[in-house]
Amino acid sequence: MALREIIEVPDPRLKVVSEPVTVFDEDLRTLVADMFETMYAAPGIGLAAIQVAVPLRVLVIDLQEPETEDEDAEPVKDPRVFINPELFDPSDALNTYSEGCLSVPEIYVDIDRPAAIGVRWQDLAGTRHEELIDGMLATCLQHEMDHLEGIVLLDYLSRLKRTMVLKKLEKLRSAA
Ligand code: NI
Repeated sequence: MALREIIEVPDPRLKVVSEPVTVFDEDLRTLVADMFETMYAAPGIGLAAIQVAVPLRVLVIDLQEPETEDEDAEPVKDPRVFINPELFDPSDALNTYSEGCLSVPEIYVDIDRPAAIGVRWQDLAGTRHEELIDGMLATCLQHEMDHLEGIVLLDYLSRLKRTMVLKKLEKLRSAA
């Protein structure tokens, strides 16, 4: 396994529409293992392949939610891989979360998304699955699905706000 570089806005590669996976081989397993390692190290709870500059429809998610309400409880690892995911049956009810993104550091944007949704996907062996999901997983998955279409958090902002955010990020980078 290896850490991969996470690309950040305004890198034009983040606007690429990712291609379906057709070959379920060792390279794919390596990509997914690297994506998990990169996501955990960041740290983050979701990552799309395009964020490590690979334009394939591959997502990894691990909400790492503790099993209890105790704030000191250790997070429990629950790695999920979604290959060629498709959404269906979005609920009318919406959830609003303040979302962050490893490709848009230090920025949080309130986004409304369907609170519950169906997802079909393939696993590393190419086997098809289907599940109805809600809560944080539904929000996180929909955020990652946006990446597959070349959409990032900034696209939910007005042009003026987007320009301000990009300037702020540029300043943060030059100060680093
Ligand atoms: Ni993101």
